[in-house]
Amino acid sequence: MTATEEALPFDSAWLRNFRRKLRAWYDQNARKLPWRGTRDPYAVWLSEIMLQQTQVETVKPYFQRFLAALPTIHALAQADEQMVLRLWEGLGYYRRARQLHRAARQIVTDYDGRFPCDSQTVEALPGIGRYTAGAILSIAFDQRRPILEANTVRVFARLLAYNGQTTSSAGQKLLWAAAEAVLPSRDVGRFNQALMELGGKVCRPREPGCEVCPALGLCYAQQRGLQHEIPSPKLRPQFENIAEAVVLIRRRGRVLLIRWPEGRRWAGLWDFPRFAVQGEKEAEIHREIIDHVLRLTGVTISCGKHRKTLRHSVTRFRITLDCYDAEYVSHHGGGTENLVQKWVRPTELEHYPLSSTGRTLAGLVSSYTPAWK
Ligand code: ADE
Repeated sequence: MTATEEALPFDSAWLRNFRRKLRAWYDQNARKLPWRGTRDPYAVWLSEIMLQQTQVETVKPYFQRFLAALPTIHALAQADEQMVLRLWEGLGYYRRARQLHRAARQIVTDYDGRFPCDSQTVEALPGIGRYTAGAILSIAFDQRRPILEANTVRVFARLLAYNGQTTSSAGQKLLWAAAEAVLPSRDVGRFNQALMELGGKVCRPREPGCEVCPALGLCYAQQRGLQHEIPSPKLRPQFENIAEAVVLIRRRGRVLLIRWPEGRRWAGLWDFPRFAVQGEKEAEIHREIIDHVLRLTGVTISCGKHRKTLRHSVTRFRITLDCYDAEYVSHHGGGTENLVQKWVRPTELEHYPLSSTGRTLAGLVSSYTPAWK
């Protein structure tokens, strides 16, 4: 036993009680979720990647649609990236989709399309860390692997009355040790899902439902009345405001799309040319837009009317996005970033994976007047 495990306040009676009560609670309270009826490692993997930064209710239709379109690892490996990103469109954090796709290709090449079942191999796949590996191995293969994610971090911090920073290395060590110690020896995947369900439905961040919690009387934070103070709040990064412009450039009934390269925020997605702008007056912004478009794409434009302002957030940035019309004038080579670019008919836009704001703008393009035809 390590020093961290010894520091855990769980004796065998506590563990027996906790496991029994959590299981009984989950038998009564488990939600029916589309990925819960299966132990197919591919479906479990897909669900866990989608759930990494996204709410259960949002994931449901995406999961079903993705699985219907690409039902096996082989199908995913054979799909082109554009299709994968189109199926992911709107879920955000598109790197997840690209890594999932790369991992599927790796599994087909290296493991004959069978999802590996040892943790070292699984954790070496793109986009899979300790948490996701633990979830897949416990749910699909019934291995005794712990998981620690947003919901269960809170559950364990409260069970232990741990008031340190949960993201610190000491905090992580203790919480992972707790996540391992509570596991039963069989039906581990179900038990892990019960822990997540408890964190999501009862042991909520702001209004924990201690009165209906199966761990009532076993939870040290609740015993000490500390459930509202624990876990201690994260130090949140400050939001930063950014002004960006995006341009719908027309040329003989088509509009210009670019494809973001590796290393950019929306790598692999298509977009209308967009960039940060500094100017405040309309004339200054027009000048900046003309210069940026030329630099980015090699296309000279005449800048037209302001059409719409969209506000959205990406990670810690609050972005005000001003959308402008523009007309193609001429073209001089590829632009500095050598972006892939394409002139696309408005009716074809539905086939291109776009960011959420990109899709809103595509709607604007499609609703243009006959000048576009
Ligand atoms: N969050 C992450 N994985 C989950 C799962 N399998 N069920 C519910 N919520 C989750």
